Amino acid sequence: MTLLALETSCDETSAAIVRDGKILSNVVSSQIKLHREYGGVVPELAAREHLKNLLPVAQAALHEAGVEVSSLDAVAATQGPGLAIALLIGFKAAQSIAFALNKPFIGINHHEAHLYSPWVGHFSEFQRNVSLIVSGGHTLLVLVESDLKHRVLGGTIDDAAGECFDKTGKLMGLAYPAGPIIDRLAAQGNPEAYDFPRPLLHDANDDFSFSGLKTSVRYFIRDHPGLLDNPEKIRDLCASVQAAIVEVLVKKTIRAAKREGVRCVTASGGVTCNSRLRRELEHACARHSFNLRLAEKSLCTDNAAMIGVLAERKLMAHVPLPPLDDEVQPGWALA
Ligand code: KG4
Ligand code: ZN
Repeated sequence: MTLLALETSCDETSAAIVRDGKILSNVVSSQIKLHREYGGVVPELAAREHLKNLLPVAQAALHEAGVEVSSLDAVAATQGPGLAIALLIGFKAAQSIAFALNKPFIGINHHEAHLYSPWVGHFSEFQRNVSLIVSGGHTLLVLVESDLKHRVLGGTIDDAAGECFDKTGKLMGLAYPAGPIIDRLAAQGNPEAYDFPRPLLHDANDDFSFSGLKTSVRYFIRDHPGLLDNPEKIRDLCASVQAAIVEVLVKKTIRAAKREGVRCVTASGGVTCNSRLRRELEHACARHSFNLRLAEKSLCTDNAAMIGVLAERKLMAHVPLPPLDDEVQPGWALA
């Protein structure tokens, strides 16, 4: 089966061609530079950029894969969650292509696609697992019982982990998105220099909360005037904030995995690019004898390939198809 997938849920315009579980192309056009001067994603600007970029990105994906539109067997797009006017661009374009070709169309939940991205190319090795999805908009712990069968264990009750990186970075005067910059600066800082709260770490649930940590960084900066003029102290601050976020993510993931009796832990989403998170998950999983599967970095941040891979699995499993005039679901929470 050869499938075209489109993803426009936030600030990445992406198109991919997937065939028989393999990614033939995965083209991503990022709008990060455009939104940087506003310190976050501006929905109207994102939609305008998607409109401008979608066709060239889709053409590039077809060209790279050596696939003609006429030979597509199905079309998929992200249906939600995401920014409504951004989702609309890719979703309606994908429906139109499917309509014109008279081929099946399937709308995909963005979080569900993240969930299966650590298995791309390795679905034959699939194991029951606890999966951590961490990105700018979401922080979720999910029990994946089997292929296409999962149950959400917990999620963030306020800010997502990526949002916490980005917002604390903004307080430090770093550019958006601050996550990768904090990661880089933290590499030369002392993670024990400053002690920040580890929210909900000891609560008996699988939920997360990061807004209190952000507030404590705000007060810390206010109470230490001049700290942001000292590059060494900024590096220590980055390392300490990163250590707090990562400790909560790793400990709660491992605790859920032990309780659910799985042998495998997976992680995906943009924050899974974080070097400390990857390292700490590796150490913790080795210590507790869990098999760890991290999504490839190119599949961690938003991309259409993960949408296409999941769509193909659903079509092969003969899940019921939505009507071709179905609508986007900006608030579609994973169950
Ligand atoms: O999955 P993603 O591309 O988009 C969303 O669906 O949100 O994730 C983007 C998020 C941003 O918050 C960004 O700061 C964070 O992932 N991120 C990182 C790193 N790389 C990306 N956070 C910490 N360390 C990184 N290396
Ligand atoms: Zn995402």
